[in-house]
Amino acid sequence: MKILAIETSCDETAAAVVEDGTHILSNVVVSQVDIFAAYGGVIPEVAARSHLEAILPVVNQALRDASVTASDIDAIAVTHTPGLVGSLLIGTLTARTLAILWNKPLYAIHHLKSHIYANWLTPPETSHEQNRHSNHSNHSNLPTFPLLSLVISGGHTQIIYIPQHNNFEIIGTTRDDAIGECFDKVAKILGLPYPGGPSIAKCALNGDSQRYHLPHPKVSGLDFSFSGLKTAVLRTVQSVCNLPITTPSFELAKHLSDQQKSDFAASFQSTACDILLEKLQMAHQTHPEALSFVFAGGVSANQVLRDKALHGFLNALKRDFSVAPTTPSKHSSTKHNSNPSTTSTSPVIFFPEPRFTGDNAAMVGAAAFFEITAGISPTNPYTLSIAPRHDLQ
Ligand code: KG4
Ligand code: ZN
Repeated sequence: MKILAIETSCDETAAAVVEDGTHILSNVVVSQVDIFAAYGGVIPEVAARSHLEAILPVVNQALRDASVTASDIDAIAVTHTPGLVGSLLIGTLTARTLAILWNKPLYAIHHLKSHIYANWLTPPETSHEQNRHSNHSNHSNLPTFPLLSLVISGGHTQIIYIPQHNNFEIIGTTRDDAIGECFDKVAKILGLPYPGGPSIAKCALNGDSQRYHLPHPKVSGLDFSFSGLKTAVLRTVQSVCNLPITTPSFELAKHLSDQQKSDFAASFQSTACDILLEKLQMAHQTHPEALSFVFAGGVSANQVLRDKALHGFLNALKRDFSVAPTTPSKHSSTKHNSNPSTTSTSPVIFFPEPRFTGDNAAMVGAAAFFEITAGISPTNPYTLSIAPRHDLQ
């Protein structure tokens, strides 16, 4: 089954053709990041206009790259929530029009669900390799249910319990800033370019993560809070520079040396990752039956998070189990791909391939496939609406 998928929830115009939920036939992403780097953030109206210019060429390119035409497409999938209103409108209007013109079923997909399903995507070489060994049906390196997903993006920070496909229970969420937003705001304080996540990660490479001690928020249960961490960075920078707390954040960077910036970036990144993993570990205590930990969203690209999850975190889990957990494969930095047939009861850790951590349409196609195979009905292309905010259900 071939699905044409479209994603325009924020500042990436993306289209992909995905076969049977896991095989990517094409994946085209046109990013507006260069436009917004000049402003230090996304301007919604500009994003919508850029989507309008890019969407038809991007869809055409996705069909061309996959060597398919409309008649080969079995269904169309599109992100309809959450996101920027104007951005979502361009993607959904395109998908609705194509669904009506081509007479194809239309699937409206939640953006966070797509991020989670990025973990089901396999590049063509891997798919073929797997198929040779697995009789075309059993993808042995895919997440298994029940699972716990840590969704970490620019707009969301949630722990979601997923007992089976298409069934979501949010068990933890941020009470203020999202983790990606926090990376972006701390980057601004340090005078690092937009988007902040990759800038912090790069700057931190030369830094000492132990140099500045930043607090862990005291939020009970599985909820998160990141606004205090951002303020802690602000206050520590002001204090280190001997400046009053009234000094605006945009004036601070010029008082910091490159080494201080790197040390702040490394200390913040390490603390933020520890907070995320502590909560995931707590979530595991409430759901010890989870067989997989699935990371999702833009922040899951972070290498320090991957290293901490796959090594320190795994060791902590090991202590919780009488049977040794599965060993990370040598490719574990991109996907903790181990053999589920092992007798271990420790959850297997999955990260999307780095190229699927940010917004893309291939993950939308993957999510739609698992709706279709579960018998979920398509949406009405004449009435589909968008919603800037909506929880995954
Ligand atoms: O999932 P995403 O592409 O868009 C949303 O759905 O929000 O996430 C974007 C967020 C941004 O805040 C960006 O700074 C962050 O992901 N990000 C990172 C990294 N790469 C992107 N954060 C930390 N480390 C990274 N390597
Ligand atoms: Zn996203």
